[in-house]
Amino acid sequence: MVCSCCANIMPHAAVSLFVTAALTHFAASSTNSKTLRYISYIPTTLLSLLASLLSALSYSPSLRAKFFVSLCAVLSKPGPIDDIRCPLVNGASGNVLEVGPGAGANFRCLVNATDILSYTTVEPNADFTNVLLSEARDQNLNFEITPTWLKGEEMDIAEASIDTVVGTHVLCSVDNPQQVLANIDKALKVGGTYLSMEHVSASSSDRPLLSLSQNLLSPFFQIIANGCTFRDAEAEISAALGDRYEIVVDRYDAPMPLAAFKPHVSIKAKKLKAA
Ligand SMILES: C[S@@+](CC[C@H](N)C(=O)[O-])C[C@H]1O[C@@H](n2cnc3c(N)ncnc32)[C@H](O)[C@@H]1O
Ligand SMILES: *[C@@H]1O[C@H](CO)[C@@H](O)[C@H](O)[C@H]1NC(C)=O
Repeated sequence: MVCSCCANIMPHAAVSLFVTAALTHFAASSTNSKTLRYISYIPTTLLSLLASLLSALSYSPSLRAKFFVSLCAVLSKPGPIDDIRCPLVNGASGNVLEVGPGAGANFRCLVNATDILSYTTVEPNADFTNVLLSEARDQNLNFEITPTWLKGEEMDIAEASIDTVVGTHVLCSVDNPQQVLANIDKALKVGGTYLSMEHVSASSSDRPLLSLSQNLLSPFFQIIANGCTFRDAEAEISAALGDRYEIVVDRYDAPMPLAAFKPHVSIKAKKLKAA
């Protein structure tokens, strides 16, 4: 199941949309203007359609998984964020593990990579199979992809076997970031590096409006964005790895289409010693 909590949260979002649609309809139908009444059908229809889509998604995990694959395939097309994504991901070498590759947005950053020995992906949503493998083929990579279809919480990679872990826009989606990070830590060799780029929660004191907008959008993202929760990825990573890793953090606003997704962090965490 891609998102276990949506079924609880989603009905609130759908119900509020249905209620808004009904109120708009009644407000318009009480006017004497025929034109106004006809115009009001546009927002009421749109709101009802959106509410219906959200309801369907909230009740069907398999529909939600498929919907997210389509959304992700569109959103992970090449764009301005590649100027941040690629220089980070380009640092991958040796035996590589990617957590949550989705549609394979990072593959285009690795077209010139010649020092990657193996590339294992861990992705729970098997509906990504075709789009992930065809992206790898299209990019004509110099290495093989070994896909596995598991949650990061459940991956069982041989201890100290990995030189680079790549994870982009993924900690927001996982159910248990500490468990995923513990598995990443276990998989990494001493001297290996975890390369991470995440969108993060805005500080409610420094950026109250952005923080509010994230909180308001959250119930919708639970449904349409694969259970995405706004988190403090930097705090999660330093809580899990902090004392045994050399961590370099870069905070910035990324060129994302939606303001709520702009606050970003890129982290390079190099493992200095074993647990
Ligand atoms: C927003 S997409 C990002 C995809 C890609 N990494 C990128 O940069 O475009 C989040 C990805 O994390 C995956 N995901 C969700 N829950 C996960 C989990 N528990 N462990 C690993 N990956 C997960 C989703 O299926 C999805 O492919
Ligand atoms: C790969 O190398 C070519 C030729 O040097 C260069 O134009 C291109 O930008 C490189 N791509 C990436 C993603 O590094």
